[in-house]
Amino acid sequence: MSKSKIEILRGDITTLKVDAIVNAANKTLLGGGGVDGAIHKAAGSKLVQECATLGGCPTGEARITKGYNLPATFVIHTVGPVWKGGTQGEEKLLASSYRNSFEIARQNGVKSIAFPAVSCGVYGYPMPKAAAVALKESIIAAESGSFERIILIQYSEPALACFKSVAGQLGIDIEP
Ligand code: APR
Repeated sequence: MSKSKIEILRGDITTLKVDAIVNAANKTLLGGGGVDGAIHKAAGSKLVQECATLGGCPTGEARITKGYNLPATFVIHTVGPVWKGGTQGEEKLLASSYRNSFEIARQNGVKSIAFPAVSCGVYGYPMPKAAAVALKESIIAAESGSFERIILIQYSEPALACFKSVAGQLGIDIEP
């Protein structure tokens, strides 16, 4: 199988010079902790000012804003599901978060995109399950031919190891 365009990296998403970074936001889109807090801190106050004009975002959907002080051109804000044990449609909602983020990226001519592990922090989604969703949706996006780089960036070594292990289990040949 030819190498996919999917890269699994370790680092801080706010440092990536890509067309779009994805934010794991909440429904208000008005900022928070975790990666949301880091992105808003790095982007500067104009980000929350633009977010405030969007009227929030339902779980599983995505919205796009400028990146302001970030090296990324755009921020795509998506709201992942809160993990409630797996019987409340969480998997479908997480998949739609990725799918809608890719779709809004495609609509805006984004060629390089980076995702954090959406819902895997405060929202409590088990990382191995979330990694499988992220990788399956990323394969679909990679095969669409719309993207040159798809990066799944992890903030810790255990998270990096988890995503790489799940990619191996799924037989996904990622960039080294
Ligand atoms: N770069 C990349 N990944 C990061 C960064 C960063 N700078 N900071 C945190 N992460 C990782 C976390 O380690 C976790 O694996 O992002 C993943 C998502 O965790 P959260 O940021 O807690 O997001 P989530 O679980 O989706 O919860 C969203 O948290 O911050 C609030 O406003 C946000 O209410 C929303 C909720």
